[in-house]
Amino acid sequence: MITLGLETSCDETSAAVVSDGKTILSNVIYSQMVHSRFGGVVPELAGREHIKKIIPILDEALSEADLTLDQIDCFAATFGPGLVGALLVGLSMAKSLAYFNNKPFCAVNHLEGHIFANRLSKPDMDDRFVTLLVSGGHTMLVDVDGWGHYEILGKTLDDAAGEAFDKVAKLLDLGYPGGPAIDREARTGDPDRFKFPRALPGDRLDFSYSGLKTAVALQVQKLPPDQLLSDKSDLAASFQEAVVDSLCRKTMLALKKTGRKTVALSGGVAANSRLREKLQLICDRQSVRLVYPPSELCTDNAAMIAAVADFQVAQNGPSDLNANAIPYQKLF
Ligand SMILES: Nc1ncnc2c1ncn2[C@@H]1O[C@H](COP(=O)(O)OP(=O)(O)OP(=O)(O)O)[C@@H](O)[C@H]1O
Ligand SMILES: [Mg+2]
Repeated sequence: MITLGLETSCDETSAAVVSDGKTILSNVIYSQMVHSRFGGVVPELAGREHIKKIIPILDEALSEADLTLDQIDCFAATFGPGLVGALLVGLSMAKSLAYFNNKPFCAVNHLEGHIFANRLSKPDMDDRFVTLLVSGGHTMLVDVDGWGHYEILGKTLDDAAGEAFDKVAKLLDLGYPGGPAIDREARTGDPDRFKFPRALPGDRLDFSYSGLKTAVALQVQKLPPDQLLSDKSDLAASFQEAVVDSLCRKTMLALKKTGRKTVALSGGVAANSRLREKLQLICDRQSVRLVYPPSELCTDNAAMIAAVADFQVAQNGPSDLNANAIPYQKLF
């Protein structure tokens, strides 16, 4: 089955064509730059940008895949979670295309999309695993007992890890989006220079990042402005190490609890180089397989949406055309 996926839940306009849920024929991603001067996503602007870009991006995805609309077997889009005005653009487009072309439509959960990015990049992976889903809006450990069967083991009590990266980058004047900027800045910094807190040190599988964010803010306030410049990379590295430490520790606890032998990283923060490096070292020591998608499949993209749709339509059939956008949709 050839699926056309659309993703417009936040500030990426993306269209992709995927064959049999596993082979990416095209995956065009447009990251909206209009938000950078505000230091965060402005929902109204995101919706307007999606409207401007959705047709050109869709055309580009079809032409890269060397296909025409009548060769598409299924039209899919993210229905939630996300910004309602943004979600509605991709969702309305996919429903209209399905209706006019008399083809199935599939409404896809964005979080399930992040998990399926692993299936796209490693089709041979075990379908029973633990995934650490770390994105701009979510931080959770999920036990996957076969694709489509999820149990949430733990989640953040306050901020998401990606949100903490973005806010600390703003404090350090590193620009938006903050995750990749901190990742880069931290490469030349000393991760042991500042002792930032690791929240919830016990055995529970939840996370918390608001205290860490405040600790960085207090440290920044203490420094004279000229010293902030010279300490920026140490601050970035010490903050990143605190996040990565807690993510790795809780992930290994989740593996112990479930007895799983594979761990998959999902979501935008899965692109973080230190998280990949440190978790790989720990997994190697414990003979656990670590998988993660290439960076462009970690952050928002439509290929992961098409991959879920292929699976969902085969399991449960198409979605109803009156499916609506659900901004606070949970994983299940
Ligand atoms: N290299 C990196 N290191 C750390 N964080 C990163 C990196 N690359 C991207 N991120 C972070 O990933 C987040 C974006 O990920 P993603 O696109 O999955 O989130 P989202 O779609 O906004 O949220 P959600 O998926 O929860 O709805 C941002 O917070 C960004 O800073
Ligand atoms: Mg996302």
